[in-house]
Amino acid sequence: MTSRVIPVDPFTLVVFGGSGDLSRRKILPALFHRDAAGQLPPETRIIGVSRRSVSRPDFQTFARAALTDHVAEANRDPAVVERFLERLDYLSADAREDGGWDELAHRLEERDDIKVFYLATTPELFAPVAERLGAHGLAGRNSRIVLEKPIGKNFASALAVNAAIGKVFPEEAIYRIDHYLGKETVQNLMALRFANALFEPLWTAAHIDNVQITVSEELGVEGRAGYYDTAGAMRDMVQNHILQLLCLVAMEAPTSLAADSLRDEKLKVLKSLKRIDGSNAAQATVRGQYRAGASAGGAVTGYLDELGAPSNTETFVAIRAEIGNWRWAGVPFYLRTGKRLPARVSEIVVQFRAVPHSVFEQPPEPNRLVIRLQPDEGVKLWLMIKDPGPGGMRLQHVPLDMSFAESFNTRNPDAYERLILDVVRGNQTLFMRRDEVEAAWTWVDPIIEAWAASSEPPKPYVAGTWGPAAAVALTERDGRSWSDAS
Ligand code: BG6
Repeated sequence: MTSRVIPVDPFTLVVFGGSGDLSRRKILPALFHRDAAGQLPPETRIIGVSRRSVSRPDFQTFARAALTDHVAEANRDPAVVERFLERLDYLSADAREDGGWDELAHRLEERDDIKVFYLATTPELFAPVAERLGAHGLAGRNSRIVLEKPIGKNFASALAVNAAIGKVFPEEAIYRIDHYLGKETVQNLMALRFANALFEPLWTAAHIDNVQITVSEELGVEGRAGYYDTAGAMRDMVQNHILQLLCLVAMEAPTSLAADSLRDEKLKVLKSLKRIDGSNAAQATVRGQYRAGASAGGAVTGYLDELGAPSNTETFVAIRAEIGNWRWAGVPFYLRTGKRLPARVSEIVVQFRAVPHSVFEQPPEPNRLVIRLQPDEGVKLWLMIKDPGPGGMRLQHVPLDMSFAESFNTRNPDAYERLILDVVRGNQTLFMRRDEVEAAWTWVDPIIEAWAASSEPPKPYVAGTWGPAAAVALTERDGRSWSDAS
């Protein structure tokens, strides 16, 4: 099956941090895929910007290597690669100095197209870059600014970043990326919930016993220890990706897919999260840090060795969250994420309640809906059936299994492909609004503060295991258990 491709309007994308890691791994490969699909108009330009002086040919060499490393060979048509490289340009400008900005403005004024300013830089540069763009008249009618997470380190700093950007760009022109929202299966969650009449009547505390959201990674901090140590799993994954997933599971049906309609509903969920702070963090949260162990079949070192310094930064978090509203009263949402766990799995498990009265000798197992976000994207609905054949009424728990790879013979586009083109189209549905980011910090801050105030360091876990034993106890205390990646 081929996907429908509608070309976007002509645009110039300016990537600040153009020769950085995100540009290499995600932005350039995503743009290339859209180019190969015929979605980029011929006049599309991509301008890399950074403080370093890089020539156009050097940037093209950098981009060619990025495509070789991050685009499958079968998708790398040499003619398209050359066409793509021709779109690239580079210039040097420093967010904190004047040089280069007039030249950028001059190049952008040459055309009356859409301007996308993508800030793939450290967050400290968000405000200075936005200010320069404003000062050079580049924040006009057709301009959009894209910010990568993290937006701030806590509520106060997020407020300051949002305020600084908001002075230059109106909210409709600000695109805060949470790349999880661009993942195909995350959007499928909305389709599953709101394009099927089947689930919604059951989607309440009356029928759902608990919800589990797991985002586990096999990787360690991979040379990002400098950044990671200032963030930790809570800021790096929970404040954004995991809370966004929780919102999509728990929100009311929006009236439409219009950006604000969806974002209003997500915001209500964030505001309904019950507070966790010094009074209950010890019962409701577990933080861990990996020690040396094994991962992907090889020995790996511990976090502190990778960092080369002592640290209390968590590389694993498990939380028992609750949403204080009518729909979800009393339903625990178990959230867990970590580095150096046994597998790379992102999934949402909706565990239904048991039947109210069993007529069978063998008690039926409760239904479970598993939405696998990655890898092996798909949906499984676990049902009870009669074990076929004679021998009495024996029951079996079996999955109704829909694997996207088997059902749809198509490449699963990377989240960045959709998100970047949504920016060009001016569609903010899959981006975080200012108040969402701030509400997420409002819930996260007291947890981080409680940890900082506690004398207990993160609990150690051996790399390649599912985190500290206390994470298991978190569910077992409630008479429940984590659903194994299934
Ligand atoms: C990023 C985090 O936002 O998401 C990384 O900063 C993490 O630490 C990554 O590895 C996970 O993304 P994905 O798409 O590989 O699940």
